[in-house]
Amino acid sequence: MTREEEAMYSGEYGEATALAMKIIVKVGEVMGAEKLVKVKHVHVSGVSYYNIREPGLLFLKKIVEEGAIARAYTTVNPSSIGLCGCTELFSRELVDGQYMINSVLEKMGVRPVYTCVPYLVRTPSPGEHLAWGESNAIAMANSFYGAFTNREGGPLTIAAAITGRTYYSGLHLINNRIVEAIITPPEINDEALASLLGLYIGEYVDVKPMIAGAWKWSFLSIKEFLASTAASGSHALVVLDKITPLNTYRVSSSLEKISIDEKELKLYKDRVSESIDFKGYVLAYIGCPHTSYLELKELVNYILSYKRVRDNVDLLITIPLHYHSLLSDEIKYLVEKGVKIAGGVCPIVSVLNKKPDLVITNSGKALFYLKKLHGFRVAIASAKEIVRDVMLD
Ligand code: F3S
Repeated sequence: MTREEEAMYSGEYGEATALAMKIIVKVGEVMGAEKLVKVKHVHVSGVSYYNIREPGLLFLKKIVEEGAIARAYTTVNPSSIGLCGCTELFSRELVDGQYMINSVLEKMGVRPVYTCVPYLVRTPSPGEHLAWGESNAIAMANSFYGAFTNREGGPLTIAAAITGRTYYSGLHLINNRIVEAIITPPEINDEALASLLGLYIGEYVDVKPMIAGAWKWSFLSIKEFLASTAASGSHALVVLDKITPLNTYRVSSSLEKISIDEKELKLYKDRVSESIDFKGYVLAYIGCPHTSYLELKELVNYILSYKRVRDNVDLLITIPLHYHSLLSDEIKYLVEKGVKIAGGVCPIVSVLNKKPDLVITNSGKALFYLKKLHGFRVAIASAKEIVRDVMLD
């Protein structure tokens, strides 16, 4: 450890910092790290009241009382309640606890973005070291931007924020970023198909793959693909042909070759996705991971020619909290058409007021968790198809 790290460890920076440093050192020892590394950006996850409840809140309160402050640039994942815009879809039972968590985090100096797309708040650079929680963001950081981060859990991201350090092992080392398989997928022309491919690879491929032809995909398809591989599997680095920056990965001399064809994906879709019907209450959901600025603009374009959302359907779009002021005209327009826009929330770690008979989403990650955690029936379709199906002329 450096002199500064030793001082943190021994308590010269206060009890909270000493505890944070001890957590990182302990995890580092288990992971075989030889040293610590400074991080440019920490993304804190695991802070929804839905998941951590009173014990988590009490822990956060205690360390902040003991002087915990964020020494690194730190952003935070979505919360379990709608923080802006439409809030009526979400139960109020989590409101008090979540606001208390948020206020403690903000006191610590965490930037209140409440989003799972921290790479759209601050763009990571190739080769820079991060300590990120949130599996989709980690996969984007490593695979799209060429930054170096492990898949961190919530407590470790808090410790990294306080110390500005993480342990130097796992994906922080180039020798652990070795592609072992090359996958040739079928043509991917929308994000729903990209999501299905991601879920499929997450489920069946457990080595680090490279995806041939990924440079032809849209940003939305890449985002949904990576989020899906990280949901159904534990992928944190999927090398994207001609996108992942060179020198941020290596390629094994004995590459396994895998081909996935259209027919296989179609069979997979039949297994994991429901078919679309409007027999009961339907929740159409776009924004897992949160929509980008351009996606939201594109949704406005899709919706232009329609009158309003059909009866017995809610069309929900989740966005980073700060988009509310940034895109107020687009949001006003969408709300006038009956679309529900919620800022800073993740519906997967929330409680909905009304249980949907069917969810339709363009996100493989949302499909995976809404089925697994909430037992919902979920169908997958692209954002364009969702708009076409749920809006009235
Ligand atoms: Fe974001 Fe929640 Fe999906 S954190 S990636 S909206 S599961």
